[in-house]
Amino acid sequence: MLFTMASSSSHRLVFFCLACLLFTFSYNFVAGESDKVKLNLYYESLCPYCQSFIADGLVKIFDSDLHTITDLKLVPFGNAHVSDKLTVTCQHGEEECKLNAIEACAIRTWPDPNVHYWFIRCIENDTTNWESSCFTKYGGKKAIKDCYTSDLSKTLILGYANQTLSLKPKHIYVPWVTVNGKPQYQHLDDFVAQVCKAYKGKASLPKICHSSALSKSPQSKVVKLQVSYAEEVFNHQAKNLN
Ligand SMILES: *[C@@H]1O[C@H](CO)[C@@H](O)[C@H](O)[C@H]1NC(C)=O
Ligand SMILES: *[C@@H]1O[C@H](CO)[C@@H](O)[C@H](O)[C@H]1NC(C)=O
Repeated sequence: MLFTMASSSSHRLVFFCLACLLFTFSYNFVAGESDKVKLNLYYESLCPYCQSFIADGLVKIFDSDLHTITDLKLVPFGNAHVSDKLTVTCQHGEEECKLNAIEACAIRTWPDPNVHYWFIRCIENDTTNWESSCFTKYGGKKAIKDCYTSDLSKTLILGYANQTLSLKPKHIYVPWVTVNGKPQYQHLDDFVAQVCKAYKGKASLPKICHSSALSKSPQSKVVKLQVSYAEEVFNHQAKNLN
C-alpha cells in the first residue's frame, strides 16, 4: 500500500517535470497566439494591386517561417458600399461581390490562415478560371458553395463591412494593410520588415527577419498608381449624374 502510493506520487512528479519541460520548450520556441503580430488586409477581390499583393506579397508569410509570429486576417470587402436596405454594391461590379463572398466562405470553411490563404491566392491568381482549378486543388467545393448560396455569405460580408467601415483611421484605398492596427500607408513593399519590427513576443525571430534582403528594401514602388481609391466609385457615380 505504502509502496503503491510512493510510486504513484513519484510518477506524478515525473509527469509534472515532463509537463514543465514541454511548457518551457514550447514557451521558448513557439510564439504565443496572443503575442503574434496582427496583420490585417482590407481588400476587394478584383482590385489589381490587391490581387498581386495577395499572390506575390502575402505568400512570403507562408513560404517562410514568418507565419509563426503572424496572425493574418483577410477582410474581403474593400471599397464596397452597404445601402440602408443592406444591399452590397462592389467597386468592380457583381463579379467582385461574388468573389468577395466566396472568399469569405473559404475563410469560414477553413479558419486557419495557412489553409484559406492558399485557396484565396488561387482565386486571386486567376479570377476568371479559378473555379475548376482551385476546387480541384484544394477541395471545399460543397462547403463553400453551400455557404455562398445561403444567407451565411451575406452575414459574413456584412461582418466584414462592419470591420472595414469601423477602421480608425478610415481606409483611403485598397489594399489597406494594418500591423497591430496601424495603417502601413506606403510600406506595403516591406510589410515583412514591419511585422518583424512589431514582434515583441518571447519566441526567437523567424529567419526571414534576419535576411539581408529585408534591410535594403527598395523604396516603395509606385503603389499610389496601382491602388484602388475608395472615392473612385463616387467619382464614377458623379460623372454618371452629369
Ligand atoms: C496562376 O494562374 C495561372 C493561369 O492563369 C497558372 O498557370 C498558374 O499555375 C497559377 N499559379 C498559381 C501559383 O496558382
Ligand atoms: C459592428 O460590430 C460591433 C462590434 O463587433 C457591433 O457592436 C455592431 O453592432 C456592429 N454593427 C453593425 C452595423 O453590424
